[in-house]
Amino acid sequence: MPHSPAPELFTWEFASDPYPAYAWLREHAPVHRTRLPSGVEAWLVTRYADARQALADQRLSKNPAHHAEPAHAKGKTGIPGERKAELMTHLLNIDPPDHTRLRRLVSKAFTPRRVAEFAPRVQELADGLIDRFAGAGSADLIHEFAFPLPIYAICDMLGVPREDQDDFRDWAGMMIRHGGGPRGGVARSVKKMRGYLADLIHRKREALPAEPGPGEDLISGLIRASDHGEHLTENEAAAMAFILLFAGFETTVNLVGNGTYALLTHPEQRARLQASLAAGERALLGTGVEELLRFDGPVELATWRFATRPLTIGGQDIAPGDPVLVVLAAADRDPERFAEPDTLDLARRDNQHLGYGHGIHYCLGAPLARLEGQTALATLLTRLPDLRLAVDPDELRWRGGLIMRGLRTLPVSFTPVARSADIGTPSSQK
Ligand code: HEM
Repeated sequence: MPHSPAPELFTWEFASDPYPAYAWLREHAPVHRTRLPSGVEAWLVTRYADARQALADQRLSKNPAHHAEPAHAKGKTGIPGERKAELMTHLLNIDPPDHTRLRRLVSKAFTPRRVAEFAPRVQELADGLIDRFAGAGSADLIHEFAFPLPIYAICDMLGVPREDQDDFRDWAGMMIRHGGGPRGGVARSVKKMRGYLADLIHRKREALPAEPGPGEDLISGLIRASDHGEHLTENEAAAMAFILLFAGFETTVNLVGNGTYALLTHPEQRARLQASLAAGERALLGTGVEELLRFDGPVELATWRFATRPLTIGGQDIAPGDPVLVVLAAADRDPERFAEPDTLDLARRDNQHLGYGHGIHYCLGAPLARLEGQTALATLLTRLPDLRLAVDPDELRWRGGLIMRGLRTLPVSFTPVARSADIGTPSSQK
């Protein structure tokens, strides 16, 4: 039995620094049953070894139908797939064999080569966004940089025409601000996005050339796969586009936000990175972004899992129907796995962090996330070399959501600099 009192979870204080509470849980109650703010009871898994086991355990289903919660409570719990929206039948809410089939299809369209081809566009977006505030000497990096960068990048990759991308920006903004609640503006935004995606898929199918051209967009690739008898329904294609947008958007916002914040509050590490970038080296940037993901990553808790039969994690028996939440942020600071886990070390070598998950649901977009994270941070530090926080860290507010960890705003100041050469962002993005 634990000796010191259990910390209070999910308060505002916890949201700004959950790591002491996670250290307590790892030590005293590594697999801990808790009541979430939504009222749902779930198991939190906090040790690295248990987290890895749970993420790969096929007895834990991603399908919310396995949740034991009484039917009348469903839809009120914040578990995404419980809402009957068609867009929710996506990779993170399904199990094999459907998961295997859909993941194979999208992997074909989302290749590392395609992501690499995208590097100049991500650079252009990063420069274009910085250009908009470079002369001002101050900015809110969340709203002016971290937020628009991934939304435009993913829209480009999916093949959403440039003139429609600001609509996506608005819908996504509504979702991020209101944390995925089931009613009101969020529901309206999801509905608009669904309608738009269905229409776009229809238009792209009508205009699809017989052979794929170079750099074919992702939605066209998915339609091609479904038209070649691989059984991708139109609904599944829309759900796939939606999950790519959704999984790839807020995560990247928070990688750039949390990562910049960690660098600004660890001046020695930041100076090291800046010196290595100035010398034209990329190695520290590569290990550094991985370390930022481990140290204070965007996905605090992995998404919902549900026991389909009795199982034991870390010595704790879990009953069928129980929800299990793997706390990636706790596992990635486990001293049993990482030397000096609370120290930010951008050159850390042995760094098999769980920031992108593990097992069959391992992040599909990891290559794109790495590209965006590395480009964003390198461009910021190079173009605004004296970037600094404009407020005391205690004044910063963190979003209180369950799954994601990220800042509401990140006010910075810097010596004003000139715009880079004019770049090709859509006119509305300038
Ligand atoms: C820094 C940015 C990102 C982080 C930290 C991140 C993290 C994660 C994590 C932890 C999971 C597994 C969740 C679980 O098992 O419960 C996941 C899955 C996924 N991610 Fe990412 N992600 C990032 C960016 C992206 C991007 C840019 C995309 C695509 C555009 C993307 C697409 C996906 C998809 C589709 C899945 C579901 C895969 C499956 O279920 O098979 N992610 N991500």
